[in-house]
Amino acid sequence: MTRPTQAILDLPVLAHNLRRVHELAPGRRIMAVIKANAYGHGMVKAANALRDADAFAVACLDEALILREAGISHPLVLLEGFFSPDEIPLLSQYQLITVVHHEEQLAMLEAAKLGAALPVWVKVDSGMHRLGLAPREVAEAWRRLTACAGVQVLGFMTHLANADHRDDPLTLQQVERFTEAVAPYRGERSIANSAAVLTWPQTHGDWVRPGIMLYGVSPFADGIGESHGLKPAMSLYSQLMAVNHFKRGDRIGYGGEWECPEDMPVGVVAIGYGDGYPRHAKSGTPVLVNNKRVPLIGRVSMDMICVDLRSQPQARNGDPVCLWGSALPVEEIARCAGTIPYELLCRVTSRVRVRIE
Ligand SMILES: Cc1ncc(COP(=O)(O)O)c(C=O)c1O
Repeated sequence: MTRPTQAILDLPVLAHNLRRVHELAPGRRIMAVIKANAYGHGMVKAANALRDADAFAVACLDEALILREAGISHPLVLLEGFFSPDEIPLLSQYQLITVVHHEEQLAMLEAAKLGAALPVWVKVDSGMHRLGLAPREVAEAWRRLTACAGVQVLGFMTHLANADHRDDPLTLQQVERFTEAVAPYRGERSIANSAAVLTWPQTHGDWVRPGIMLYGVSPFADGIGESHGLKPAMSLYSQLMAVNHFKRGDRIGYGGEWECPEDMPVGVVAIGYGDGYPRHAKSGTPVLVNNKRVPLIGRVSMDMICVDLRSQPQARNGDPVCLWGSALPVEEIARCAGTIPYELLCRVTSRVRVRIE
């Protein structure tokens, strides 16, 4: 008997979620964002399941090389671009597309004296103030890039800071700043992440760049994927590994923060922060035992959590437990843990066995 903790990945739903992107942004090309191991779902598996996408976006060269070595031949875009000059020859060798977001990258490209063609996207900072050339730097970047033998500017992209806030005026301000900054130059335009695909049609441009929605999860703090016609790809399961009976006043787990209000059964589930279950999930976070909700009680430990089994006195060792999945949205667990579902999905650790459906 092995430890029963496992993540089940329903890969065909990735294709379903991709079709939802097509419905929401008809006629636009899709750069499916599969960086960070496809938000914890397995990058190569996700790329195969999403083969109808027009391109894949990863963060960096290392991620792109994993895809190429696995035989993925789609256009691959490095959202963070290259970090040092020695990466530049590999970009051409593996037919990768880099983002250029900083003057230092321009200088590296000029010094590289490229032999082969190198397609690039230029990233503009339209107001997020994280990565990208300021609008006033775009003209000079265009001049230098078009003077660089081998470099081919495919287009311009920008990233939205607050697209998940439906009323925030910043999104349309960013669109306006971006559109104005790149207006004189030919090439494709790309702005929209998942939240923008779902709510800001003005941002759809030539290419959309959805990430989280492909995995069936809502980008909105108060939402769940299902309400957008999405289906979650990852479910996290375990089992009860012990059912114990405690007396009124007994305290549960590290710090003894949760006190039994009466004599009661307490279940121990084989999952903890060592598996990626969030340590900050508070008492009351829902857990499904035998498909019914029970509350988490006490602190999350590395390998275990405890649950209140008063509503399920018949529960036994080995009974199935779901931590998140189609019957228990990961978005809800993230809210209970004071984080976002992106983080929970990315954080499932290699100790968790993965089963593919
Ligand atoms: C530049 C860029 N575009 C698109 C995305 C996809 O965002 P989301 O997962 O919210 O759709 C990301 C993700 O962080 C990103 O960094």
